[in-house]
Amino acid sequence: TGPDGARQFALTLQTGRSEILPGRSTATWGINGLHLGPVVRVRRGDRVRIAVTNRLPEASTLHWHGLYLPARMDGGPHQMIEPGATWTPEWTVDQPATTSWFHPHPHGRTAMHVYRGVAGLFLVDDPAGPPLPSRYGVDDIPLIVQDKAFDGDGEFTTGGFGGTFGMLGDTVLVNGTAGARFEATTSLVRFRLLNASNARVYRAGFADGRSFRVVATDSGPLARPVTTDRVKISPGERAEIVVAFVPGETVVMDSRGEPARQANDIEEEDFDLLTVVAAGRLAPSPAIPAALGGGPPPVVPPGARVRRFSLSGSEINGRDMDLARIDEVVPAGAHEIWEIDNTTYAHNFHVHDVTFRILDINGAPPPEYQAGPKDTVFIPKKARVRLSISFGKYTDATMPYMYHCHILRHEDRGMMGQFVVV
Ligand code: C2O
Ligand code: CU
Ligand code: CU
Repeated sequence: TGPDGARQFALTLQTGRSEILPGRSTATWGINGLHLGPVVRVRRGDRVRIAVTNRLPEASTLHWHGLYLPARMDGGPHQMIEPGATWTPEWTVDQPATTSWFHPHPHGRTAMHVYRGVAGLFLVDDPAGPPLPSRYGVDDIPLIVQDKAFDGDGEFTTGGFGGTFGMLGDTVLVNGTAGARFEATTSLVRFRLLNASNARVYRAGFADGRSFRVVATDSGPLARPVTTDRVKISPGERAEIVVAFVPGETVVMDSRGEPARQANDIEEEDFDLLTVVAAGRLAPSPAIPAALGGGPPPVVPPGARVRRFSLSGSEINGRDMDLARIDEVVPAGAHEIWEIDNTTYAHNFHVHDVTFRILDINGAPPPEYQAGPKDTVFIPKKARVRLSISFGKYTDATMPYMYHCHILRHEDRGMMGQFVVV
């Protein structure tokens, strides 16, 4: 804590070598460590100040994905940190509880920087939020899911970033670990799933088909727990699930493709994610509340402005990203409808500094577990998705926020635009 009461954090982007496959090591990048980064956990209302130092061999940034903050603090491509330099954003956290995250955003280089391992979690706790399991590492477990490819020497491959979707690895790591295991000691466990992959989409569930409850989407709690047996998350999306275990059992959390999978979609392969081994005795967990505090289904405010975005191969509305061009100007606090029309293969869509609700996908409401507050949405091949977006309070007529496809190859190739809030 600083003299002014702000909570101070220091994050250093650095290089290293890590043993990920047993007995072999690979060059990795990380934050305050060799690979991936720490968890920053704050409470709603905290003032935070974060000194971000770049000890990588090239310029980068650190973007706070899912957080509401002034555009100059956002860590997008306009806040480059040169090697050896330190950038110190600060802001007051004012948003519902969220599992958010941070990752680099240097234009054209994001895929490589994230792939090498620069990413970490940013958790916001809300004292007024629902009581959920929250003992970190005991019954509140983050799961950062990323796919990797290794070359013959056991190094992260540096090829495979081209093609339609870019990197699609054949080894899935959870929290940087291949073949991850977790020992449950409580009857309920809350898992915070983050898809931090470059391109892969997962449908997470359990090998035995058990159901579980989804309690939160990207940027806050659902209105009430939603029972399901699979959650689909595309790059950048999060889902918080609460799973019940019985003493002594072993069960595998896995990802399975859609039964009706389409050619040229990206969620087609099956992976095991995590083996959960339940202890012989499990401490009882408090019940999950029936109401979680998330808002009711979105209503379209009469007269809301509609903006249309058409996605093609790597362009939005026929244009590539241009750092010098402002694409959209939005009034502070506005509530708008953004209609995203995907003319090609699968994409997704992420908007900085906002929360949105999915109104419909091809005219139908989203699955119930995706009805909560979000900042990233999967857009299937040739689909049209309508979002009801609430914009933030921070204004800056010259410094933009980004919206983009979070398939990092697409983002790097220019499937990104800029908006200012005035
Ligand atoms: Cu997670 Cu603009 O990104
Ligand atoms: Cu973001
Ligand atoms: Cu895309």
